[in-house]
Amino acid sequence: MDYIFIDIMAKKKKTRFSSKSKQITTHKILEEIIRVDHAGEYGATRIYDGQIAVFGKNTKIGKTIKHMADQEQEHIDKFNELILEHRIRPTALLPLWNVAGFALGASTALLGEKAAMACTVAVEKVIGEHYQEQLDLLKDDHKDLKKTISKFRDDELEHHDIGIDHDAESAPGYRIMSKVIEFGCKTAIAISKKV
Ligand SMILES: [Fe+2]
Ligand SMILES: [Fe+2]
Repeated sequence: MDYIFIDIMAKKKKTRFSSKSKQITTHKILEEIIRVDHAGEYGATRIYDGQIAVFGKNTKIGKTIKHMADQEQEHIDKFNELILEHRIRPTALLPLWNVAGFALGASTALLGEKAAMACTVAVEKVIGEHYQEQLDLLKDDHKDLKKTISKFRDDELEHHDIGIDHDAESAPGYRIMSKVIEFGCKTAIAISKKV
């Protein structure tokens, strides 16, 4: 009897201690976060490359896209650093995202400015939500990474709003196109975490 009582008290103490102790992000989660974000930012630079290839960077729409592309470049530069710093293997699918990203950007741009912006809205919506989920997953042992992701999330949401302000929603076939692109992005995210 005494033994059981002591055992319960010991467990209670342990629970109390662990709830107060610092929470740690597992390496698996950190690895998946950095790998998928690196892949996503790379894909984003390629989407905007494809759109700029069609519109040219000196047109009015080209300059707006260039502003977003420059921010994507900052994002990928940062994840290039993080992938080295944490010694994380990049996704094996970078060559695929290279081609698929460019093709998505160029093909939507060929459909017109509103379609290009509809692509931006769909992609940035998924990425913005994805970054928010990561902020909820990361513990306080990665405060700097949380700060980075939170800044990038705000940039992505700004890109989303730029798309809306440029009449993305009145692009022909907007609803179906958004659904297809959102589904594609979510699938790419799920694969790039692991592969
Ligand atoms: Fe980005
Ligand atoms: Fe973006």
